[in-house]
Amino acid sequence: NPEEGISDYYLNVQKGTTNFMDDLLTPTLGYNGNYLGPVLKTVRGEEINMHISNELNDTTSVHWHGLETNGPEDGGPRQIIGVNSTWEPSFTINQPAATLWFHPHVIGTTATQVYQGLAGLIIIEDENSKSLNLPDDYGDNDIPLIIQDRSFNEDGAFVYANNMMNGAVGDKIIVNGAITPYLDVKQMKYRFRIVDGANASNYNLRLSDDSEFYQIASDGGLLEKPIESKKIFVSPGERAEIIIDFDKYQEGDVVELLTDTKLVMTFRIGEAAEDLTVIPERLTEIEKIDESLVTSVKTIELDGMGHMVSINGRKFDMNRIDDNVTLGDIEIWEITSNSTMMGKMGHPFHIHGTQFQILSRDGKEPPLSEQGWKDTVFVQADETVRIIVKFNYKGVFMYHCHILEHEEAGMMGQLEVI
Ligand code: C2O
Ligand code: CU
Ligand code: CU
Repeated sequence: NPEEGISDYYLNVQKGTTNFMDDLLTPTLGYNGNYLGPVLKTVRGEEINMHISNELNDTTSVHWHGLETNGPEDGGPRQIIGVNSTWEPSFTINQPAATLWFHPHVIGTTATQVYQGLAGLIIIEDENSKSLNLPDDYGDNDIPLIIQDRSFNEDGAFVYANNMMNGAVGDKIIVNGAITPYLDVKQMKYRFRIVDGANASNYNLRLSDDSEFYQIASDGGLLEKPIESKKIFVSPGERAEIIIDFDKYQEGDVVELLTDTKLVMTFRIGEAAEDLTVIPERLTEIEKIDESLVTSVKTIELDGMGHMVSINGRKFDMNRIDDNVTLGDIEIWEITSNSTMMGKMGHPFHIHGTQFQILSRDGKEPPLSEQGWKDTVFVQADETVRIIVKFNYKGVFMYHCHILEHEEAGMMGQLEVI
């Protein structure tokens, strides 16, 4: 009932088959479908009642990645949905316009369930985002791009190859459930909501003609100002919204989106079009979290590769709370990826239930693209990233490496906000 600002959403977690190649069918998992899930569109202030039923032969959970909500509604490993059971959390959207996503989070099966297709998007709008003339016609000039990679057997089945060091990486790029697809575009501006939905891969995205586009949002919402750039980096769990203006091309042109030199997808340029959208000079205002109010400074050491991963020297234990926080506390976390004898490795570090700000990368000011709200940050090998974070919701929350195989191997901790 949108009038009253209350909505019900229904998600069935189900098995299916997807035709990725030729006439082969790949066994997959999806929400309300065969692969991936619906886009849940909502507005700030809306009260949401979720109705999730698990039709798998296995337990699952649905975690709202990036959503600011209390622990019991977070959908992490403490909110398991049994076989043939339903989970019905309710929460009110109380954060700025952003692109969030959802995925399973059960210990031992997160990585394989995501690999088989369980992931979906949440789009939040607010008064500010609606007042801007950004492209926001979903499916028309506002297009999600869930980027993943997968490997296949000859019979079409997925090959889940955890290489033991860096997690499961596939040899084919998949966008929104299709292998290196194309999109027919008009000569106008398009907004792409990019999600790195891979288990373990980073993507270094650029256009084949190295032309410029604009980044307008990071994980937790709009940036203060659009950033003109030729490339963008995303690690597992991260999001970025970009606007590409196809007005500079001619009908019949083709431009590719690449990760390094590998094809991600193709844009086929069509006819000219009237375009009333604008990229404003100012997108929003982001209030800096006040450093003078910090109550504690914590150190997070990310170590190892493969199964030998840990946070602060420990592996995940559901029965252990690693950090205690008082509601409303503001903390600085200094996160370091240590290189080991096995080699150098960066880790995408994610905290549940909050959005943070990056203070510095190796002592330097973070790039403009990281000066907005973040819930996941890539910490390079031998680098320290300082973040400032406020805990506004109660309960137990996970923080972990978003390489799903590292998370499964225990690179996760729990904090409790009381
Ligand atoms: Cu994408 Cu623990 O989450
Ligand atoms: Cu999360
Ligand atoms: Cu990791």
